[in-house]
Amino acid sequence: MSRIVLLEKIHRSAADHLKAAGFTDIVQLPTALKPEELPAALDGADAVGIRSATQIRAASLEKLSRLKAIGCFCIGTNQVDLTAAAAKGVPVFNAPFSNTRSVAELVIAQAILLLRRIPEKNMRTHRGQWDKSAAGAYEVRNKTLGIIGYGNIGAQVGILAEAVGMRVNYYDVESKLPLGNARPAASLDELLASADVVTLHVPGGSSTENMITAPRLAVMKPSAVLINASRGGVVDIDALDAALREKRIAGAALDVFPKEPNNDKEEFISPLRGLDNVILTPHIGGSTEEAQENIGREVAEKLVRFLKAGTTRWAVNFPEIRHVEKEAQSRVLNVHRNEPGVIARMNADFAQAGLNIVAQHLQTKGAIGYVLTDVDAPIPPALLQKLRAEPATIRCELV
Ligand code: NAI
Repeated sequence: MSRIVLLEKIHRSAADHLKAAGFTDIVQLPTALKPEELPAALDGADAVGIRSATQIRAASLEKLSRLKAIGCFCIGTNQVDLTAAAAKGVPVFNAPFSNTRSVAELVIAQAILLLRRIPEKNMRTHRGQWDKSAAGAYEVRNKTLGIIGYGNIGAQVGILAEAVGMRVNYYDVESKLPLGNARPAASLDELLASADVVTLHVPGGSSTENMITAPRLAVMKPSAVLINASRGGVVDIDALDAALREKRIAGAALDVFPKEPNNDKEEFISPLRGLDNVILTPHIGGSTEEAQENIGREVAEKLVRFLKAGTTRWAVNFPEIRHVEKEAQSRVLNVHRNEPGVIARMNADFAQAGLNIVAQHLQTKGAIGYVLTDVDAPIPPALLQKLRAEPATIRCELV
């Protein structure tokens, strides 16, 4: 039976899901581990679950010869050397979708607060002022939400926005199926010019770096507000700072920043600190109890599917094989160097052993090939040895 080690206080939904799937050898440790602590702690482990604080680099992977899979119970996977893991035949899984709803809810809340001018009212009341004026405070009903990046989060924001009576426009570089009554905008500028609330849900990286600059902000209505819960680099912060101070837009809510502190000891530095019409949050768009619970379940499910059936759908570093239950008595999992002739030689070995292949699922990704072979008979140990001895083989096992 596989042993699974879960570090860093992963939500109990993970262990619950693993146990329900029949995995009973689960070791749970509350903290992250240093690289030098990994070999002893993961001795005998078939899979490990980490969050963002445990680094698994090539040197550690070399020492973890039994390890078959890594589950990152978070969104990011930078803490793992993905290439080294793939080269060792170890797929890495994460939870890219588990906090979508949490981000979407925060954005709707921010849209309502900003249009009602609550950040300013809140600050004034804190200072002892009693400003009951309705001037500049609006309902979101019948206002236009402009969504930039209509992916998982953007589309969910659109659905929630319609539920509170907003009109939804979106702009995406790809053609996207509109949900509800959402309408695609002809251009980014058209979207910016028509929206009362602009919200950003694009990926980070060079293609979206400083997407919102001074000329883009100038297209927005002076009464409009900007929300960014995507990536800090997407907005030119100095340009936004100027637009807010000069009242060229009415407010903003930012959850992500070009430079974010690495921990709670470091000070958060930003020109936007102290502005009454700005909501600042410390990159917590996706941080809810529900999201943690969903992450536990989502990654545990991917580990279960891999450990029980060898399937790798949604692996971040590995050829993806869609989930198919074992269709015969034996399933052989084979990770190999992606080069000509490997499958032909492997299948010849099966034939020579008198075994008929019932089903075979093959995928490749870069230098790695991955094939699951279902056979309606037990696999003789000599055949397994032969397959492992093949020069292109990285890992060959029964699941
Ligand atoms: P996704 O990949 O599902 O959607 C991104 C969308 O943006 C895609 O439809 C894509 O075609 C579109 N896009 C890419 N480049 C574009 C461009 N230049 N202009 C317009 N559209 C463009 O991503 P998902 O899951 O919706 O996440 C969106 C963002 O939210 C990401 O940056 C992610 O890192 C961030 N995020 C932030 C969290 C937080 O705590 N604040 C939590 C989770 C995600």
